[in-house]
Amino acid sequence: MDIGKLNLQYLKSKTILVTGASRGIGLALTEKFLDLGNIVIGTSRDKSNLESLTNKFERNFYPEQLNLSSEESIKGLCKAIRDKFQKLDVLILNAGVLGEVGPIKNSSYKSWCETINVNLNSQYLLIKSLLNCLEESKKASIIVVSSSVGRSPRSNWGSYSVSKASMEALTLILSQELEETSITVNSVNPGATATKMRKEALPNEDQSKIPQPKDIIPIFLYLASNEATENGEVFNARDFIGLLNY
Ligand SMILES: NC(=O)c1ccc[n+]([C@@H]2O[C@H](COP(=O)([O-])OP(=O)(O)OC[C@H]3O[C@@H](n4cnc5c(N)ncnc54)[C@H](OP(=O)(O)O)[C@@H]3O)[C@@H](O)[C@H]2O)c1
Repeated sequence: MDIGKLNLQYLKSKTILVTGASRGIGLALTEKFLDLGNIVIGTSRDKSNLESLTNKFERNFYPEQLNLSSEESIKGLCKAIRDKFQKLDVLILNAGVLGEVGPIKNSSYKSWCETINVNLNSQYLLIKSLLNCLEESKKASIIVVSSSVGRSPRSNWGSYSVSKASMEALTLILSQELEETSITVNSVNPGATATKMRKEALPNEDQSKIPQPKDIIPIFLYLASNEATENGEVFNARDFIGLLNY
């Protein structure tokens, strides 16, 4: 695997779903995929959060409402994708919530359930509901956005850590089950990235000193491309920073 050799000219005309496209990592991914000439379905709980993308990319950007707390909303999005596009080439499970940070002893059951529901159960439902669209692609890629605390669970990261660790397990299970198909499933840990969620977790951190969302996208571009054959693997986005010119 040599990401530096990836020719971005060929990463175009794919149909890509990016959940949580309104800001942070999802926004940076959406803009880059659109710049390259792909079709991107980008989601937010509130479609008005996607207006700047709609104005900037008059063609090829399809804003959709998605609330991962609602089964009805997830099913509505999947139906819209099936009806409009039939086929999906890339699914990026990016949207998520931080939940409560702090010891389990002080956590609330309501918040625990909400985080597990958004970051795990709803991701399962999204994947399951879109598998038939992914099967229509000659080469489909599911990219799970994970976290360091999903790989090494840590105190005070409670429900978030458990939800991401479970997504790592789901990535592995699915990658094995889909081995004989044209669909690959891999997970990417963005690492510390300057976003609203990161600010919420670490309010005193100087975000000018950590990677910005646009810096960490090379591995996502690679995994979305026809070059990538990896399946069931785990990647750290920071290992690929600066390896692609874009
Ligand atoms: N930033 C980091 O340092 C870091 C590190 C490790 C992992 N990650 C992971 O990277 C991913 C993106 O995070 P980020 O840092 O870019 O966070 P962010 O700036 O807070 O963005 C989160 C995105 O998720 C959407 N979202 C939030 N709750 C949602 C819900 N209930 N239903 C549907 N969409 C929802 C938001 O859209 P609306 O508010 O418009 O609905 C927003 O677009 C997450 O999975 C996160 O766990 C981030």
